[in-house]
Amino acid sequence: MHVEVFLTGYQIDEEDVERRTVVVIDVLRASSTIIAALANGARAVIPVADMDQAGKIAMNLDPSTYLLGGERDGDRIDGYHLGNSPLEYTPDVVKGKTIILNTTNGTRTIWNVRNAQHLVIGGFLNATRVVQFIREAGLDVTIVCAGRNNRVALDDTLCAGLLLYRLWEGQEPAYVSDAAHIALTQYLHDRDRLADALRHSNHARWLTEKGYGADVEYCLQLDTLPVLPYYRENRLVLYNESAE
Ligand code: MLT
Repeated sequence: MHVEVFLTGYQIDEEDVERRTVVVIDVLRASSTIIAALANGARAVIPVADMDQAGKIAMNLDPSTYLLGGERDGDRIDGYHLGNSPLEYTPDVVKGKTIILNTTNGTRTIWNVRNAQHLVIGGFLNATRVVQFIREAGLDVTIVCAGRNNRVALDDTLCAGLLLYRLWEGQEPAYVSDAAHIALTQYLHDRDRLADALRHSNHARWLTEKGYGADVEYCLQLDTLPVLPYYRENRLVLYNESAE
């Protein structure tokens, strides 16, 4: 199985996703919000590339069935029901609802890779479930870190490294791409102090300074929500083996 890693999600070619399993990682916070929303009973999450697209989709839905969620500069977008804090996406809020999610890096990256054979969302919250799916699917894999504003984000890179470590059972193959090697090496470097390394990442510090420290702690939890957001017909839903 060939594994490719992109450390940022801005420039991905069709050939890097077609006929492959693609995992999008945006630990802080879009991936974690999507995982939490679906684990807590949301019917679906529709990831959008921008404000326009969010508005158009909302216009065609019955207002009682959807919630608009998302951020700009980390804060809830004016007029939206929810921000991008996974802690807001509780069962009483999201159960049965379709969430239209609009975030700066994460949902845009998902939109960029929507032509994958299989597109799933990964984070620390569901890492083991993602690795299990990659193995079952048996296709070549592209792991796409959303990064932050076209820059590498340590939180996403470490999560990619963790997935690789588990996929390869700790043994790096003889030939791997440079980006995969970097992600795995960084994970091996930080794995004994993973939570601390993550707390010191640029994005975590920035969120904490803005008052979202509880989100950071939530997103760092490992394997607490073993669900798999799977992209089908423009939306993310919980993976259902029998439907695929
Ligand atoms: C994003 O998609 O850019 C992030 O999830 C930003 C954030 O932390 O809200």
